Amino acid sequence: MSFEERLRLRPGVAAGSTPQGRHHLLRWPYSSELDEVTAVQRSALTLLAEAPVTEDALCHRVNPEPGEDTRQEVARLVRDLRGLGWLRVTVVESDNPLYTMEPVRTAPHPASVPDQPTLSRFATLAREGTDMALRSPRARCELVLHDPRLLTLVGLLGGAPDPREWARRTGLSARAVERTLGDMAASGLLVGAETEDGDQAALAVRQWNPHELLFHTRSRFNARCRPGHDFGTTYSFRDTQPPPRERAPLSEDVTMLEPPDLERLRVEDPPLTRVLEDRASHRRHDETQPLTLAQLGEFLYRSAGARPGTGGNGSARPYPTAGSSYELELYPVIRRVAGIEPGLYHYSAHRHELSAVPGAAPLSGRLVQMVRAQTDAPAPPQVLVVVTARFGRVMWKYQSLSYSLILKDVGVLYQVMYCVATAMGLAPCAVGTGLTEEFCEAIGTDPTDEAPVGEFVLGSRPPHTGDHR
Ligand SMILES: Cc1cc2nc3c(=O)[nH]c(=O)nc-3n(C[C@H](O)[C@H](O)[C@H](O)COP(=O)(O)O)c2cc1C
Repeated sequence: MSFEERLRLRPGVAAGSTPQGRHHLLRWPYSSELDEVTAVQRSALTLLAEAPVTEDALCHRVNPEPGEDTRQEVARLVRDLRGLGWLRVTVVESDNPLYTMEPVRTAPHPASVPDQPTLSRFATLAREGTDMALRSPRARCELVLHDPRLLTLVGLLGGAPDPREWARRTGLSARAVERTLGDMAASGLLVGAETEDGDQAALAVRQWNPHELLFHTRSRFNARCRPGHDFGTTYSFRDTQPPPRERAPLSEDVTMLEPPDLERLRVEDPPLTRVLEDRASHRRHDETQPLTLAQLGEFLYRSAGARPGTGGNGSARPYPTAGSSYELELYPVIRRVAGIEPGLYHYSAHRHELSAVPGAAPLSGRLVQMVRAQTDAPAPPQVLVVVTARFGRVMWKYQSLSYSLILKDVGVLYQVMYCVATAMGLAPCAVGTGLTEEFCEAIGTDPTDEAPVGEFVLGSRPPHTGDHR
């Protein structure tokens, strides 16, 4: 028995015509122009938007007694829609839906099953309602698996290829296995063993980790996402509230900081070009003259302190953030600063004060030692500023790209910190990564709620450091 294909326009697709009579399909920000659209094809388009339908049934719905002309018009429309990637196709065997192919770029390219077929190492399987979705950031289609036997087939795709054995072990018909493999190959989910891993694979492909490529593609516009529905500014948690802008002090052990005299700095600070041109990463600190509490306070205020007034949501800061979310929090790990005890502190950007995090001495010691190794520095830093994000402040508003926005915000903050430290004659250096779970435990947060997303080293600059390292 042959397979049935149930066709449906992808959700959210609108059709429209210009006064000049040109016909378009639109799913913002993507659109395709169709050739001339006949009355039959217009009816077929409407039906395709309503419910899954076979091509034959479509012909009968637009014309109860379809002639050759009707069939050809419908076939042409279906071919065009498929080619442009506007159609979802559910493959059905003997009334049993096997899977649905959902284009995420242009349509699948016909491709033969490779000699050594293997599941793409970029493929992931995730629950989608009551089904499982097989997807990959490199694929042209996602496969939503309706028949659970396909999960066994997917599980076999890492081993030696043997389609006959696969049919026996899955309980699927040999033809269903063949058809599924063909569609997976056309989608880019099934690849030749050498194409992604071996020496013959393109370097540009080999160097990507699956999770990084997935994150990259899913935080950019792509044909999969529906801006305003499941991507971008959706306010999907508008019925809840974002976490408050101000985090409560972490203890009663609070050190008030003196705000710097900004009016004086406006006049006396080095000019922008000198700061930018002199900015550099410095990893050595002057142990004979360590950073002072006043310098640390000035650095924090000038980099991240909340100013009264005009900016987003009632306060302004020296650095911008996506959506004025101000989700980043600073936690200085102080090893050596004149005027304050070593330890882990939280910086309140609103109150311009440090509150000590109790019981964090062992973690603080570990963090600065780790960073010494990460920066290849001769000694642990005088201060390590751990930057956390309170994710809900961004995720409340944005969908799918929130985390990428947070990392961009971290980059923006880093540069402001570099510039402020340079203007102050201090030694700054960004750091690439750090501990998460242990830090969250120390500050008493769930890592899904608030967790480190950046680290930055600060200290006093030794005189005559020609060599930045
Ligand atoms: C996001 C980011 C992460 C960094 N991570 C590290 C790091 O882990 N260790 C380190 O020694 N330097 C790190 N750096 C500093 C870079 O090595 C440095 O900026 C680069 O070599 C250019 O030198 P410059 O900053 O002196 O111009 C980082 C810089 C950035 C922006």
